[in-house]
Amino acid sequence: MRDFRDKKLRGERITSLTAYDYPTARLLDESGIDIILVGDSLGMVVLGYEDTTRVTLAEMVHHTKAVARAVKRALLVADLPIHTYDDPAQAVATARALIDAGAQAVKLEGGVSHVPQIEAIVAEGIAVMGHIGMLPQSVREEGGYKVKGRTQTEAGALVRDGQAVEKAGVFAVVLEIVNPEAARQITNALTIPTIGIGSGEHCDGQILVTHDLIGLFPWFTPKFVSPEARVADEIRKAVQIFIGRTRSGGS
Ligand code: KIV
Repeated sequence: MRDFRDKKLRGERITSLTAYDYPTARLLDESGIDIILVGDSLGMVVLGYEDTTRVTLAEMVHHTKAVARAVKRALLVADLPIHTYDDPAQAVATARALIDAGAQAVKLEGGVSHVPQIEAIVAEGIAVMGHIGMLPQSVREEGGYKVKGRTQTEAGALVRDGQAVEKAGVFAVVLEIVNPEAARQITNALTIPTIGIGSGEHCDGQILVTHDLIGLFPWFTPKFVSPEARVADEIRKAVQIFIGRTRSGGS
């Protein structure tokens, strides 16, 4: 985990992408990504749920095991799903289940409000990644995926969230859909790296949902993503060729 702080000190950007299955994780690992996250975005881009609020620990464990079989060099982080870390004891038990499934660290959503959970997990010797800004597990209460830190008051609150999770012991913190100027303030206020998603260029690293990056979930792409491939189109093309070949009597 020290490596990531050192990277921040040296000004080296940290790269992170999500994976939920063996082949994707192996391709990311072989490509040299720094951190592979088994995100609870699993619920949306793999399991077909509307948001992340229905993802269970059993689902996270199942997919973490598949990813762990593939990862040889990247740091493997797994998300604590909603309502599996409502208090410190539950947070420790959930983190332990994900570590037993092969994760090397866990991530949880929340700032000042979740310091007791972070401290409890860290006290067990388990590395924790923080996640502040837009919190997808709260999307229903929030009424959508809205930019955080637009005003100086909101930016100040996010800086305090970042400082609280740093003090609680996280080794890095995800900033999700944070106004770029607020992300800059948080990044400058912390010694741990910030990993941005839709939060501009001032973060110490960037994370994306792999399906968004490679165009594998064509029904919805967040505004801040520029896909680098159109894998869904390739799949459709190959399937059409197979259908045509088979219907015309080929094999
Ligand atoms: O679940 C997830 O994939 C995440 C990233 C988007 C940061 O939390």
